[in-house]
Amino acid sequence: MKRILILGGTTEARQLAGKLAARTDLAITLSLAGRTESPAAQGVPTRVGGFGGADGLAAYLRETDVGLMIDATHPYAAKISANAAEAAHGAGVPIIALRRPGWELAEGDRWTLVDSVASAVTALGSAPRRVFLALGRQEVAAFEAAPQHHYLIRSVDPVEPRLAVPDATYLLVRGPFREADERALLLEHCIDVVVSKNSGGEATYGKIAAARALGIEVVMIRRPALPDVPSAETVEALAAMVDHFLVSHFLGPAAERGV
Ligand SMILES: NC(=O)c1ccc[n+]([C@@H]2O[C@H](COP(=O)([O-])OP(=O)(O)OC[C@H]3O[C@@H](n4cnc5c(N)ncnc54)[C@H](OP(=O)(O)O)[C@@H]3O)[C@@H](O)[C@H]2O)c1
Repeated sequence: MKRILILGGTTEARQLAGKLAARTDLAITLSLAGRTESPAAQGVPTRVGGFGGADGLAAYLRETDVGLMIDATHPYAAKISANAAEAAHGAGVPIIALRRPGWELAEGDRWTLVDSVASAVTALGSAPRRVFLALGRQEVAAFEAAPQHHYLIRSVDPVEPRLAVPDATYLLVRGPFREADERALLLEHCIDVVVSKNSGGEATYGKIAAARALGIEVVMIRRPALPDVPSAETVEALAAMVDHFLVSHFLGPAAERGV
């Protein structure tokens, strides 16, 4: 039985775990940070909570005899990805990663690119605006520094405590979000600027397409740098990498050639 640790917290991690769980020669564990109060059912054995940095993760890899680690965390979860690369190196455990491609600027997009959430706050300017914050609940607190704006804040879990700003509306919803619904939402709340991460993928692209269609500015927070490890862009390609890895590491090159 080969042990595979998947670092998750994304739809792709759940999909990959589901695919690999069907195999009887693999023992899959999916790891979640524990940020979401009631995460979607994962369908495979799951562990929850931090490891205690790169050293803690390296110790976990050794103790549980992990043969392959898969980093399928969100593109903005830079700390855990850095820890994973360092721990893999330290524990001598192979690592592969899912690196979801970012969204590309399309004709009609009005993106203002910034490097951080703090820069996104500044980019909104001093005049009051109606802002849609489609960010994680950890990040929205930074917008208290600009209390002159009206905020529409959408999150999976409640933002607690609420923002110390006079004018904010909260929406509790879990994606995916369709473009037509996003357009209706932006119009309903008279939004004139969207703040977003460049998450990539289909599930949250609706707001970007809707903003383009309505000529609304998007303050786009650039992606953080991630460690350079062997990676694939889709769940299917990553599953193929896992197959290839298992054959070449556990069955030998002869099996890979089919002899
Ligand atoms: N950042 C986003 O925009 C975003 C969006 C959607 C989903 N997520 C998911 O939410 C989780 C947390 O994201 P983040 O941006 O807060 O991460 P982060 O800043 O990169 O990680 C902070 C710490 O959280 C723990 N951690 C993160 N992911 C973990 C995992 N899958 N399993 C166990 N521990 C984990 C680690 O703690 P220790 O150092 O103690 O090990 C890590 O050092 C990730 O699983 C990510 O895939 C993030």
